[in-house]
Order: sequence, then structure tokens, then C-alpha cells
Amino acid sequence: MPDVDNPTERSLADLGINDPSAVATEFAKVRERFDKQVAAKVADKPGYVMMRNAWLGRKSGVLTAISDNWLRSAVPSLKPIVGQSLNDLRRHVEERLEEFLALAEKEAEAGALARESLDLTLPGLRRPVGSIHPITRVQREIEDIFLGLGFKIETGPEIESVYYNFDALNIPETHPSRDDFDTIYIDSNTLLRTHTSPVQIRAMEKFVKSGAEGGLYIIIPGKCYRHDNPDATHTPMFHQIEGLAVDTDITFADLKGTLDYFAKKFFGEKTRTSFNPSFFPFTEPSGEVAVSCYVCGGVGCRTCKESGWIEVMGCGMVHPQVLKYGGLDPERYSGWAFGLGIDRFAAARYGINDIQLFFQGDVRFLEQF
Ligand code: DAH
Repeated sequence: MPDVDNPTERSLADLGINDPSAVATEFAKVRERFDKQVAAKVADKPGYVMMRNAWLGRKSGVLTAISDNWLRSAVPSLKPIVGQSLNDLRRHVEERLEEFLALAEKEAEAGALARESLDLTLPGLRRPVGSIHPITRVQREIEDIFLGLGFKIETGPEIESVYYNFDALNIPETHPSRDDFDTIYIDSNTLLRTHTSPVQIRAMEKFVKSGAEGGLYIIIPGKCYRHDNPDATHTPMFHQIEGLAVDTDITFADLKGTLDYFAKKFFGEKTRTSFNPSFFPFTEPSGEVAVSCYVCGGVGCRTCKESGWIEVMGCGMVHPQVLKYGGLDPERYSGWAFGLGIDRFAAARYGINDIQLFFQGDVRFLEQF
């Protein structure tokens, strides 16, 4: 169906065009229409295909219409100018559409690059990396020293019976030292263990059950609980390491030698140890171990309160009564034991004067380790 409003669908005679300048004007209008259309199109491949079909399409393209409607019916005097103008127009359309296609391809490529490009100046996402908690580090450090001496690691329950926590450790109900512990009871028979010492009994029982060969050499790391008010040196939950050596020929000299070796490994080769009498119901004799101050080397400073020494643990020869509770014959077996606070060792290792910091979970503090 010829479009009567579209001049290219009508003949020149019909349009009243009968001289060369009118022909030129009419071609100029068509060309202007084309230029406007190209300018208005988004430069992409579909836009190009659409324009090419609309203008250069063999059947329904505008140039075919001009050829059919204007050229063919042109009077001989106008034919050359119509033919020439049509050629010029075709070249123009082809050239512009070539440019349009080139632009479309460039845009497509730029779009793909923009989507795929990496901005190397963009700050990266930092994945926070965790680290081993200082208490765990120091616990492992202590464990390693004793593992090197042939000790094994033993653990026991944090929810403990009164029997293991007190009775079997030779702390009878009436014994005043039970009060020292500020025990957190669950019921009259059950409590949160106040120290790692109950595992001594459990380990001896296991040792006896297994056939009791070759002696028992263990360290016992773990959490303990007391009804303490938190301050720079106390927390209601804290960590201990217990040591226990039981064999047929254990003496106090073994205890001194082992703990002196341990102190030198942990605090440094120049460290000296001092054993001073003390009291624990589960050891006899009992001692407190002090090490020459790891800050001043023993000269005297604020850390050691000018004494040159720092108390680091309790120890002693396992009380015969405790060996019996563990199922061992004190006539045949002897043993030594010690107990230390890991949190205080960690504070010493890292020069921290408030053990609360270990338990507050403040990343700014923990990041230092
Ligand atoms: N259980 C004691 C406490 O928590 C520490 C201790 C002292 C453990 C002497 C021992 C020891 O094994 O022999 O205070």
C-alpha cells in the first residue's frame, strides 16, 4: 500500500516537481530525514539493522521507493539529475550507516570492558584473620615442655563431685581449707571444680585399672571456677595446669629438678628457682615455687615488689592418703604434684598487668598476639 503522505511513495509529477532545483530540494529533504533518524537512534546492532532495512532494504527500503517512484517515471530531462541525486543519496546513506555500525561495535566493546574491568585502585575487602588466644598459646607452650619430658596430657570434667574435688584430696568437710576455695556449688554433691587437682584422683584410678605399669606422668590443663570477685589477678573462671608424677621411686629431688628445668624453659635459661615450705592438704611436704623475677632478673623491681622473686606455683609430695584414694599403695608408690595458674603465666609472658583483658574478647587487645 503506497503511503500517500510519504513523498517517496509518489511520482515526481504527482508531487509537482518538474525542474532540477526542485529535485535537489526534494532529495535534500529526504537526506535530512535520514540524518535525523540516524542521530536519534541508539548506536547498537539492532538499531543498525533496523536503519539498513528501512533505507537500503531491496523491497521496502526508502531508496528502492525513490528508484521506483521518482527515477522510473521521471521525464527524460530530469532523469540524469534524479539518477545522480539518488546515487549521491545512496552513497551518503551507506557511508553514514557504516559509521553507525562502527560506533555500535565500539559501544558494545566498551560496555563489555566496563563490565569486565577490574578497578585496581579499589580498596579490597579485608577478611579478618583470627589468631590463637594468648591463654591457649601459653597453655600449649607449657604442655610442650612437659610433653618433651615424656608426660602425657590428661583432662577431667569441669562439673565435678564433692568427693573428687575435696574428699579424695584429703580435704575433709571440716577442714578449714575448703572455705578458702569459694566454691560454686550446683547441689550438695556437685560443684564446678575449684582446681584441676581432682583429675589426679581420676587419673590414678584409671592407672590402677589399666594394670599400673611403668609409672604415671601427666599434666592436666583445664578451666576452674571460684566465687571470686573479678580484679586484676582474679576471674571467676580461670585456667590451671596440674602436674602429677607417680612411680615406685619418686623423690622430692625429682620434683625440684623437673620444676627447675620447666622454669628455665619457660622463663629463660638464667631463671633460678626457690622452694619454700607451704601447706596443701593433698601434699606432704608442700612447697611454693618462686622464680627469680623475669622482669629484673632478681635485682628487685615493681613486678617482684623489690623482692627479686615471684611465686608461680604450689607443689609437694603426694600425700599418702591421696595415693590411697587413687587406689595406690603408699608403701610402694610415691609421687609429686604441682598446680599453676595459666592466666598468670600468660600475664607474665606478655607483660600484662590485668588478667581481665584475657576474657573480655576485645579484638584490639587480642590482635596483639
Ligand atoms: N590445687 C591447688 C590450688 O588450686 C594448687 C596445687 C598446689 C596443686 C599444690 C597441686 C599441688 O597439685 O601439689 O590452689
